Formats: sequence, C-alpha cells, structure tokens
Amino acid sequence: MDTELKDYIERGIYEVHGWLEPYSALFIADLIEILRESGTKGAYGEIGVHHGKLFILLKLATQNAQGFAIDVFDDQHLNLDHSGLGNIDKFKSNIIKWSKSLNHVHVIKRSSLDVQPEELLNLVGKCQFISIDGGHTEICTLSDLKLAEKVLLPDGVVVIDDCFNEQWPDVATGIARYCTDDATLLRPFAISPNKLYLAREDVHQKILSNIKPSHTKHLSRENRMFGHNVWIFHPNTVVAPPGTETMDEVLRLVRAYPMRFLKHAIRRIPLFK
Ligand SMILES: C[S@@+](CC[C@H](N)C(=O)[O-])C[C@H]1O[C@@H](n2cnc3c(N)ncnc32)[C@H](O)[C@@H]1O
Repeated sequence: MDTELKDYIERGIYEVHGWLEPYSALFIADLIEILRESGTKGAYGEIGVHHGKLFILLKLATQNAQGFAIDVFDDQHLNLDHSGLGNIDKFKSNIIKWSKSLNHVHVIKRSSLDVQPEELLNLVGKCQFISIDGGHTEICTLSDLKLAEKVLLPDGVVVIDDCFNEQWPDVATGIARYCTDDATLLRPFAISPNKLYLAREDVHQKILSNIKPSHTKHLSRENRMFGHNVWIFHPNTVVAPPGTETMDEVLRLVRAYPMRFLKHAIRRIPLFK
C-alpha cells in the first residue's frame, strides 16, 4: 500500500469528519488494490461526500484516477432526509491536505436525483469503484443504485452505506427494491461494518477469492442476501467485555492483544496524530 494512503488510513480518517469505520476503510483500500491488480482500471466516484472522509481514500487508492463527487453541499433544502451536511470548502481543503491536489476531481453540486449517467460518463468515463452515501430515502437509494450501475465497469464494485443502520430503514428498502428487480445487474457479495458491496454476479467469485486471503482472520461467516452468498468481514477489534473493571482484567486484555492496545494508545498522543 502506498505511503500516502497508509498515512491517511492510520491518521487522516480520524481527522476528517464523516462516517467511515476504520476496518471498512482498510477493506475498501484493499478491494481497490485487488481490482487494479486484476486489471480493472477506470474512474471512481461517490454520491454524498460530506467533508470527503471516504472520497479521499478512494482518490488515493485509485492513484488519482478521474473521480466524480456528487453532493448538494450548501443546498441543504435538497437533502430531504437530513443525512450528513455537505460542505464544499471543507471537502476541497481536506482533499488538498491529504492528497495534495484537486487534480482529476470533478465536483457536481446537485441532487443525485438530477444527475444523468451520460453526464458522468462524459466527465470521468466508466468507473471501477463507486460509493453511495447520499440521500438516504428509498427513492434516492434506488435511483443512486441505478445510476451507479449505468456508469460502472462490468467488473467494478459499488459500496453502499447504512444498509444495516436501524436509523435509516429506507436505505434497506431501496436496496431490496433494486436487488429484487430482474432488470438490474448488481447483487451483494460482501459486508463490512456498515457497508454492503455489490457487483455483477459473474465477478463475485473472482473478487472474493482475491480479497479473502488477506482478510482471512476477519472473515466472520457466509450468509445469504437476495439469493446470493455474501461474505461478512469483521474487524475483530478488542472490546472490553462488560464488567471489565479491575486492573487485573484490563491487564489480561492488554497481555492478550498488546499491539492493538499500543496502536490505540499511540493514536491518542497528539504528537502522533
Ligand atoms: C452521510 S453523509 C456522507 C458521508 C461521507 N460519505 C463520508 O465519507 O463521511 C451524506 C451526504 O449526502 C449529501 N446528500 C443528501 N442528499 C443528497 C442528494 N439527494 N444528492 C446528493 N447528495 C446528497 C449530504 O449533503 C451529505 O453530505
């Protein structure tokens, strides 16, 4: 993994405001690297960028490919469900801070409901990876999935946020409508914290067989969604069990997972931030 991307995953995601669980950040970066190694080259994009937390990772992981960023930004009257609060100045300054430039970043300040696939194809071309995290209504989710499908390369991946978040049941409903429609192409194949990954069925096995070896210890189990096998990847983070109150219990956990505790502690020292 290149040093800028590694640094962003280790420090940047803790500084840029937004919603991205650290293990999902690593999983997405690895997935993009695997796509590149297997010859999938193309643009990337995100619907709903907020301050750029995930977008920056996508930019670095795709090695500065052409990228689109759709957000209503300060036109918040178009953010019908009040998910996040895009800010174009913070978005741009975060990108410059963590990836040095705005090169190849194409910002579309509009509701994704008003964006046509042709516009994205003219702007950036076909995409290898698209994140959907904009409007969290059923209609928006369904429409964003259809938009992403039309600009995605045949072996590309779409990741969607909040599918399992109890605060946003409309997202799950939109995904269900999309995945049960015979006219649509993308189906789920993997899950990581708060993220669902979709691709065309004929590339599921290839992607999974490439990502599994480097994430074996995070593979929690296989399950089914809409008639497809989905693999669940989990961070295995150390969570102190309820009742861990005595120093002996804390020390036992530190002895069991020394490196994780050390990394966790170092990140909290201002010098290392
Ligand atoms: C949950 S936040 C996105 C978080 C971001 N992906 C991150 O990495 O932290 C949702 C974003 O979607 C934007 N948004 C809401 N409705 C939208 C719509 N219809 N079209 C485009 N963007 C929208 C909001 O302005 C907000 O910035």
